[in-house]
Amino acid sequence: MSAKTITNVEAFNAAPEDYQTAVRKIVRSHAVNELYGAQVFDEPAIALAPTPYAKWLTCRVAMEEYGHHVRFRELGRQIGLSEDEMTPKGRRPLSIFEFPLKTWEEFCVIKLLADLAEIIQVEDLNHCSFQPLRNLARVTMPEEKFHAQFGKDFCTELCRTAEGRAKVQDAINRYFPLMPPFFGRSDSANNALFRKWGIKQNNNDDMRADFIARARALVEDHLHLKLPEVREAA
Ligand SMILES: [Fe+2]
Ligand SMILES: [Fe+2]
Repeated sequence: MSAKTITNVEAFNAAPEDYQTAVRKIVRSHAVNELYGAQVFDEPAIALAPTPYAKWLTCRVAMEEYGHHVRFRELGRQIGLSEDEMTPKGRRPLSIFEFPLKTWEEFCVIKLLADLAEIIQVEDLNHCSFQPLRNLARVTMPEEKFHAQFGKDFCTELCRTAEGRAKVQDAINRYFPLMPPFFGRSDSANNALFRKWGIKQNNNDDMRADFIARARALVEDHLHLKLPEVREAA
């Protein structure tokens, strides 16, 4: 077991091949998913936002999500990934990206719950053995927290009317079941490798359980809506 800190790209280049491959996988997946999400959800949401104030905040969210892609892509470039590998083109998307955004309520639910999933992933990287990735996670975190708070604030506001509550519940019913699989398979060989090298700290099922518990607190205790039942293992 080796979890010693790799402080920079030079040390990374001298690290075992297995370690390099594992870090590249994580950086590539973040670069791809940040860009995918920005294109499919955040940018289209600017047009759906109902007021100038909501548009302004949504522009900020979109700017930051594109910014996350730019940061991960830059780190990916430094550790030997090509630009082509770090865009959604030609890869099978996460299932959530296959449902184009149609309403403002859907966007608010995605920020409430999908950005919570992102926070849990980024929290795990806050202790990553590859220091440049750890640093990147730490600067990204306050922005992801802002996105989740944005989702919470707008969902809370929407839930003040019966019509708004019904629309938020409907979006939760359709989007939430797509989210637990984000955390990967229970028996993931990749995840075992990430933990062996101290790149990640937690196993997929523990992160998924944490996500479901925190999502339940938001949806049921805070919004007083219903969280659909999902399988805790994948
Ligand atoms: Fe992000
Ligand atoms: Fe985000």
